[in-house]
Parts: sequence; structure tokens; C-alpha cells
Amino acid sequence: MKAVVFHGVGDIRLETVRDPKIKDPTDALIRITASAICGTDLHFVRGTLTGLEPGATLGHEAVGVIEEIGKDVRNFKVGDRVVVPSTICCGYCSYCRAGYQSQCDVTNPEGPRAGTAYYGGGMQGFDGLQAEYARIAYAAANLVKLPDGVDDDCAILLSDIFPTAYFGADLAEIRPGDTVVVFGCGPVGQFAIASAKLHDAGRVFAVDCVASRLDMARDQGAEAIDFNREDPVEVLQRMTGGIGPDRAIDAVGLDAMAPSAGPAAKEAKKQRAGFQKELKELEPEANRRGSQWRAGDAPSQVLQWAVQCLAKAGTLSIVGLYPEGRIFPIGQAMDKNLTVKAGNTPHRKYIPDLVDLVETGAVDPAEILTQTEPLTDAIEAYKAFDRREPGWIKVELRPEAKRKAA
Ligand SMILES: NC(=O)c1ccc[n+]([C@@H]2O[C@H](COP(=O)([O-])OP(=O)(O)OC[C@H]3O[C@@H](n4cnc5c(N)ncnc54)[C@H](O)[C@@H]3O)[C@@H](O)[C@H]2O)c1
Ligand SMILES: [Zn+2]
Ligand SMILES: [Zn+2]
Repeated sequence: MKAVVFHGVGDIRLETVRDPKIKDPTDALIRITASAICGTDLHFVRGTLTGLEPGATLGHEAVGVIEEIGKDVRNFKVGDRVVVPSTICCGYCSYCRAGYQSQCDVTNPEGPRAGTAYYGGGMQGFDGLQAEYARIAYAAANLVKLPDGVDDDCAILLSDIFPTAYFGADLAEIRPGDTVVVFGCGPVGQFAIASAKLHDAGRVFAVDCVASRLDMARDQGAEAIDFNREDPVEVLQRMTGGIGPDRAIDAVGLDAMAPSAGPAAKEAKKQRAGFQKELKELEPEANRRGSQWRAGDAPSQVLQWAVQCLAKAGTLSIVGLYPEGRIFPIGQAMDKNLTVKAGNTPHRKYIPDLVDLVETGAVDPAEILTQTEPLTDAIEAYKAFDRREPGWIKVELRPEAKRKAA
């Protein structure tokens, strides 16, 4: 089958790889009808996130049709349309049963303290989903059946993006009427704006520097701030009567950029040495050259802005991805009595409710989808998404594989 394969920083290829097979009685085999490219995939290709061996298939977002099931999968049948949650749970450990499926004790092959298990992150047995077929472990506990009313263009955003953003809004402890600021207007940021509204936020601010992404945020009713034209901390203070937003959601992560123009660039320049130190320590293998696959230049920028702008006793929710290491401005957070919550999304906890929300028409995820490309054009699509080309916000990949003869 065809798949998007990682070969090193800045080197991904569409290749023929071995077809997956059912291994365990709890497995299902799916034919993928839609997958997608995520900001998390970009971190790997830019070299900011490490741990992926050459030869690994990328991707952790998919919708598909079940082709085969193991004997211990009792709640699905061949032919069912399903959405695949990006993180993988067993369904029976104490964490899974409590709704912390991303902290499952069982599924990470390296053991219970090795971190979240997910597809396309180089974990043994969990090949990526930017492919024509996939083996889904613990299928009964993970897969979510799709109703006919939710098509692939909507369903693909239920695999990772919408649940992550909704989790981000949950972590932010949004109460009706609260003022929320969302940093980052990529797909996660766009859904974080929608999710803040679903949590009855009174006002939502959105910060980025990409015009087409800020336009989309504004179309959703967010108050847009371009950090290359204005100082976001100053604007947020001024527009909230000096109080600051009650809640902040970081939907950017370690590839954060410092402003290159405007009033905030001056302050960022002063911090350059600090950012350089972070880059050296946290992302030694990241690509810093050219305009393609270029890592962000200021890993802690969003964390700093969020802590500075928040109202006293406010809440910071971090769903953007960060590596281990010293990066967080703990002193100021402590001094302001902030609550800080962070994590990998327990996708399976949120997906069934979000499927219902989409089916009723309360949210139309396909509005965020800007491109649908055949899997065969995946590399070019990756490049355009990485460069944040105007209008490229969320890319769906269609394998268009033929159903195999039984
Ligand atoms: N916690 C989870 O389970 C989970 C799940 C999915 C994605 N993620 C992470 O969420 C983050 C966002 O994902 P995405 O797909 O939307 O990524 P993306 O790369 O498409 O979007 C990131 C956006 O942040 C903007 N940005 C850069 N520097 C900024 C700054 N200083 N201030 C404000 N905005 C800035 C960029 O211009 C871009 O629009 C990534 O780090 C991704 O790895 C986490
Ligand atoms: Zn993703
Ligand atoms: Zn578990």
C-alpha cells in the first residue's frame, strides 16, 4: 500500500510499504478513506520533535471502513464506517476508565510511564495513518462508529483536531461570560475558538500572524490580533480594561515564532539570547534554514505572552505540544495565582459527544477544511501547509484505495 514515510528532518516520501495485518484478537483492519496533516506531523519533519526513526509512517488522523475484525471485537462489523481517535487506549485500565485515555497504562509498548500512545509517533505496532490501510489495536475500546449524516470531510476533523480543541477549552475552565484568548489560529486554534463559544465564553480573542488564518478566526466572531502589527499583550490589556483575559489557550506549541515586525518585535529582540538557549537545549536537531520545514524561533513565546496577559487567578490551558525541559515562566505564573493545565487529549472521551454535535448541525467542522488532496499528492500538500500558504489551514488526504478482493 502507499503511505507517507519519514526519512529524516525535511525528508518525507510517498512510498510503497507492507500492508498491515490483524495480529491480535482485539485488532481491526481498516481501509482509510480520509486522513489529514496535523501541526504535530510538522514538528517531526521540522526536527523540533524527535524520536521518529527513518522508515516510520506518519499521521494520526483517520476515517475509514472496517475490512476485517479480530474475534474479540464484538461491537463492530465489517463495513462499518469509523473515526479513529489519535491517542490509543485499552479501555480497561484505571486511567482509561476514568476518562484519561491518553494516560493509558497498557497501550504504550515502552510501559505505563513512557507517555501517550498514538499513531505515527514511531511507537512499535502503531504505524501512521497517512496510508491506505491501518491496523487498529484495541479496536472495541477505541473506534467510534459514524452515522451516515457525518461525511468524511466532517469526520476527519473529529479524529484529533476538534477533540483537542474542545479538551483545551475544558482545561481552560471557561465559565459563561469569560473572556478567552486563543494563541494560534491553525486548525486546533480555529476549533478552540468554536469550543470556547460552545463553553459560553463572552468574548474570544485570537492571536496569530497569518492573515488568512486571522480572517477565518474573525469569521467565527473572534477578535483578531496580528502579532506582527500589534503587541498582543498590550492590546489584550487595553481591550479588557487593564484586567486581561480570564482564560488562555495555547494552540501553538514548541514551533512558536517571535514577532518579526511591529511593536512586539522590539521586546522579542531583547529576548533573543534566551530563545536561542531554549532552541539549543530543547530542539538541537531542528531545521533553522530556508523557508521550508523551518522550526519556530521562540519556543517559550506563547507561554510568556499567555502568563503576562492573563487576569490574576486566571487559567492557562496548554494543548500545543512541548518537549521536556525548562521553558515555562513559573515565577510570574506563581505570583499571579494562575492555574495551569496541560496535556495530550484523551480523544476517546470526547469523540462520541462531538460526533453527535456535528450530526445535529450545531458545528460544521468542514468549514475549517480548506484542501482535499489525493494521498499521491501528499508531499506537495505537506510543503504548502508547512509554509502556511495563504488559505492552507487544514488539509485532508484521500487514499482512494480500491477495496481488496476478499
Ligand atoms: N495536546 C494534544 O493532544 C494535541 C493534539 C493535536 C495537536 N496538538 C498540537 O497543537 C498545536 C497546534 O496544532 P495545529 O495543527 O493547529 O498547528 P499549526 O502549525 O497549523 O498552527 C500553529 C499556528 O500557530 C501560529 N503561531 C506561531 N507562533 C505564534 C505566536 N507566537 N503566537 C500566536 N500564534 C503563533 C502559526 O502561525 C500557526 O498558524 C501543535 O503544537 C500540535 O502539535 C496537540
Ligand atoms: Zn493531529
Ligand atoms: Zn488503558
